[in-house]
Amino acid sequence: MNEKVAALLNDQINKEFYSAYLYLDMANFYSRKGLDGFANWYEIQAKEEQDHAMLMYQYLHNNGVEVTLEAIAKPDKTYEALIDPLKAALAHEQYVTSLINNIYAAAQAANDFRTTQFLDWFIKEQGEEEKNSADQITKMELFGSDPRSLYMLNSELATRVYSAPSLVL
Ligand code: FEO
Repeated sequence: MNEKVAALLNDQINKEFYSAYLYLDMANFYSRKGLDGFANWYEIQAKEEQDHAMLMYQYLHNNGVEVTLEAIAKPDKTYEALIDPLKAALAHEQYVTSLINNIYAAAQAANDFRTTQFLDWFIKEQGEEEKNSADQITKMELFGSDPRSLYMLNSELATRVYSAPSLVL
């Protein structure tokens, strides 16, 4: 595999684990606030990020690339209002989209079509993650200031269940 593409994918493993840690910290925030549904949503989000990291880890292994695991940074965001993690999540997903696009562009430039095909799933996934994050903000802006509506929103988010990624390597 092209060295630059391999290095970017290796680095992305770390970024995905950081995303998991960031989302777990959001779940932690909502648990402290008594919003178990929001906490559930972000706990599942954290699991999905670990899946993303493991897909990249497995992909590199399948292609004979040595993986290096680096330290995972501490989640450095602080939240005051209930909407704050939702906004931080959208900004973070937009950032991750830019990272995935960057790896895709490097793979394309290196004629590494196996990797562009692998990344197609992530490109689509980023679209979904950005939409979900934006929808959460919209709902919170519409309903978050009314306790009964917030209760219902929390109940809705409590129904989310984890499912393994659809991408199989
Ligand atoms: Fe792994 Fe939320 O993107």
